[in-house]
Amino acid sequence: MTTFEPGILWGAATSSYQIEGAVAEDGRGPSIWDTFAATPGAVDNGDTGAVAADHYHRYREDVALMADLGLEAYRFSIAWPRVQPAGSGPINQRGLDFYRRLADALLEHGIQPWPTLYHWDLPQPLEDAGGWPARDTAARFAEYAAAVHEALADRVSRWTTLNEPWCSAFLGYASGRHAPGRREPVAALRAAHHLLLGHGLAAQAMRETPVGITLNLTQVSPHTESLADRDAVRRIDGMQNRFFLDPLLHAAYPEDVRADLAGVSALEHVRDGDLKTIAAPLDFLGVNYYSPMVVTSESEPGGPKASPYVGSPHVAMRDKGRPRTTMGWEIDEHGLLELLLRLRRDYPAQSLYVTENGAAFDEPVHDAGRISYLEGHLRACAEAIHRGVPLHGYFVWSLLDNFEWAFGYAQRFGIVHVDYATQRRTLKDSARWYADMIARGGL
Ligand code: IFM
Repeated sequence: MTTFEPGILWGAATSSYQIEGAVAEDGRGPSIWDTFAATPGAVDNGDTGAVAADHYHRYREDVALMADLGLEAYRFSIAWPRVQPAGSGPINQRGLDFYRRLADALLEHGIQPWPTLYHWDLPQPLEDAGGWPARDTAARFAEYAAAVHEALADRVSRWTTLNEPWCSAFLGYASGRHAPGRREPVAALRAAHHLLLGHGLAAQAMRETPVGITLNLTQVSPHTESLADRDAVRRIDGMQNRFFLDPLLHAAYPEDVRADLAGVSALEHVRDGDLKTIAAPLDFLGVNYYSPMVVTSESEPGGPKASPYVGSPHVAMRDKGRPRTTMGWEIDEHGLLELLLRLRRDYPAQSLYVTENGAAFDEPVHDAGRISYLEGHLRACAEAIHRGVPLHGYFVWSLLDNFEWAFGYAQRFGIVHVDYATQRRTLKDSARWYADMIARGGL
C-alpha cells in the first residue's frame, strides 16, 4: 500500500458560479459570467449558471455529504457580486451572511473552510468600467478582499486570493472563450498584471494575513525534438507557468517571455513597486493540474485561431495518443509528478497544495475512469512527497457535477452526481473510493 504521511490535508473543491445558482437572490448583482452565458453561442447548449447545482439553497445537504466522505477541508469561492454587487461601494450583508452560514456549517462538521476570493465572477459594473485590463480593478479587489476578510476572519484561517489568473486574463481577454469574451491581446497582458497586482494588494489589505494563490500549471513537452518545437516549449511554459510564477516568487517577469511579447506590448503598464507588492511571501502555492501539454511550432491548418498564447500565435497543441477524458484532455499523471518536482527545483521552499485535480467522464455513477485517474495522480503526489516536494494537501475537482464554463453542464467533473432536473445528489463510486482512501491514509 502507498501511504501518505499523517497531516496531508484532504479536500474537495468547487466555485461559486459553477454550483451556487441563485444569481438574483439576496441582493447579488450581475457578474461577467451572467452576461457572457446569456450571449448566444458563448456557452454550449445555451447553459447558464442561473440554477447550477442550487448549492445556495442546498449547502447544508452538501456539507453533510462532505462530512460523510470524511473530507477535512472544502475549497469554495466567494462570489464578489454577492458580497459587493457593484464591485465597489456598499457591502451586501446578506451575501456575506451566506458565506458565514456556510463556514459555520463546515466548522460544525470539523471541515476547514478554504475560501478563494476570486474564481472568475467579476461584478459586471467593473467590467463596464474596463475590467481587469484597468488598473483600478486591482484596487477594487483589495477593498473587497478586506471586507470579506473582516467578516470571516474568525472562521477562516487559510485564504486564497485568485483561482487561475491565466484563465481570467488569457481566456477572458485574448481568446475570448471565457467571460467577458474579449479578443484583445494587449488587454489580456494588462489583465494578467492587474490580477497579480490585485493579489498583492489584497494580501496587504487583509492585514498581512498569510495568503496563497492558485495557478493552473502544467508540464510542457515538445512534439518533436526539433529546435523549433523545443522553442515552442520554452514559449508556452513561459506564458502558462513562468509568467505567473516568476512575478509571484522571483519578483520579475521572465526576460525571454518579455522578448516574445515585444511585438505586442512592452508591458508599460507595470509600474515601479508593483513587482514588490506582487511578490509578498506566499503562505502556500495552490497547483491546479489536469493534463500535460505537447506543443509544436507548426500552425494549425487554416491559420491560428484567437490564441490565448499572446506573443506565440504560431504555436499549436498536439497529443501523444494517450487516453483522454471527455474534455479531450490527455491523461498523464507523470506530468503532475514532473511539475511538482520542477516547482521544488525552480521555486524551492514554497509550500504547495494541489488545489484542483480531477477528470470529466460520462459515467453517471460507476465511474471507474475517474477512480483510475485519481489513483494515478495520487500516486504521483505520493512519489513527489517521497522525493522531497513540500506538498501538504490535495483537493479533488470537483465535489459536485457543475457548470463547466463554456462547456455548460455536458462535462461532469463531480465525485457526486447531480441530477439537474431534481437536484438529487448521488455518490459516485469515486466518492466512496476517495472517502476510503482518506480513511486509510493511503492507496
Ligand atoms: O471547472 C474548472 C475550474 O473552474 C477551474 N479549473 C479547471 C476546472 C476544470 O476545467
